[in-house]
Amino acid sequence: MSRRVHPAVVPAQPFHLATREAGDGPVLTTDEGREWVETAVSRYPQKKAALLPLLSYVQSKRGWVTPGDMADAADALDLTPAFVHSVATFYTMYNRRPVGRHLIQVCTNIACFLNRGEEVLERFLEETGTHEGEMSACGNFTVLEQECLGACGFATVVHVNEKCFENVTPEGVGAIVQALRDDAAAYPNGAARAVEGGD
Ligand code: FES
Repeated sequence: MSRRVHPAVVPAQPFHLATREAGDGPVLTTDEGREWVETAVSRYPQKKAALLPLLSYVQSKRGWVTPGDMADAADALDLTPAFVHSVATFYTMYNRRPVGRHLIQVCTNIACFLNRGEEVLERFLEETGTHEGEMSACGNFTVLEQECLGACGFATVVHVNEKCFENVTPEGVGAIVQALRDDAAAYPNGAARAVEGGD
């Protein structure tokens, strides 16, 4: 890593647009990764408290968390692989399989359901040519159905990566997907864009 960062800015949010720069390689055992581990651990009185930031960091670099990443996190924090696995599988925000560059999460809980949330979900699936949870052939999209996203007054609510879209209607879905396609076209390898707010 080219510069040191303050411990307070170790990423804690896993939905940032992933740089994908890790590819199939390691994240936590590179020089940069080791430095992030050291920084994250320095924030907490106990090493294991840094586990969520570490998993989020991995996801920001790869887009998902592999079994190897979990093993590396266990090694780094003196935890058992089973403990790390239990945490990574408890929080649905950690992707445990490859997802599209743009992770689209559509709320269909009660407020959004009453505001055509299921239609919004269907339109996203149609527009991206996917089934729920599947990555599109182009690698740009995965659409997930979610429970309440905590913005019920603005139903229907949709998260795309770290961004929150409010008052989404089925008619508005096409424009959102097109904007994402344009963004993907600008960064075809998914590696050029910085993680917003990550460092
Ligand atoms: S029900 Fe959709 S955000 Fe709460």
